[in-house]
Amino acid sequence: MSRNPQEWDDRYAAAAAECGGTVWTPGPNRALAAAVEQELADVVPGTCVDVAAGEGRHAVWLAARGWRVQAVDYSRVGLDRAREAAAGAGVDVQTVCADVTEWDPAEPVDLVVCAFLHLPSVTTRPLLHRLGTWVAPSGWLVLLGHDAANLLHGTGGPQDADVLWDTDLLREAAAGAGLEVLRADQVRREVTNAERAAIDVLLVARRN
Ligand SMILES: C[S@@+](CC[C@H](N)C(=O)[O-])C[C@H]1O[C@@H](n2cnc3c(N)ncnc32)[C@H](O)[C@@H]1O
Repeated sequence: MSRNPQEWDDRYAAAAAECGGTVWTPGPNRALAAAVEQELADVVPGTCVDVAAGEGRHAVWLAARGWRVQAVDYSRVGLDRAREAAAGAGVDVQTVCADVTEWDPAEPVDLVVCAFLHLPSVTTRPLLHRLGTWVAPSGWLVLLGHDAANLLHGTGGPQDADVLWDTDLLREAAAGAGLEVLRADQVRREVTNAERAAIDVLLVARRN
């Protein structure tokens, strides 16, 4: 199921109104954070775009590590939360309210991050390729999403094969944009009160 901006706005607003909380667990996804800390350990932080940034958990974490982050999302309420989170963390995150299927950064970017953006495959394939083309020379692409294996073996995420990702999809997008793929693997994520772990897919690629 794909949502529209109003539905995302309502979802973020409801989480804030009901419990003063966020839809997504605060703090970065562990696998994404570990990948950035390991693979990019020697990289001097530069410009970064967090694509479909939502409430900004990755944008804020990256900004705290010195990246100059643009957080792009079409949910104004999500971006309000992202700015609050950035202010709370004492970091700067520039927010851009835009449909990422139509938006492009002004210049090539040192790090492009996109986590859990699940759109119909007809949109996803060209979009992921475009994200790869944004990467500057010596820059990086980090993608994280729900793997299609979730439907049979995992927990949570959209229950629609057409919007789910897998390693082949991510590899093709990155390689098609001229990037070297350093890793593209399934990652297990433990989920509270669920018998099975969630199965995510993570890609790290760079432009040589
Ligand atoms: C599952 S949330 C993930 C948020 C964030 N990346 C994270 O991991 O916490 C998906 C986000 O994608 C945004 N989104 C979906 N389609 C979009 C589009 N076409 N353009 C911009 N944002 C979009 C939604 O507003 C939502 O904030």
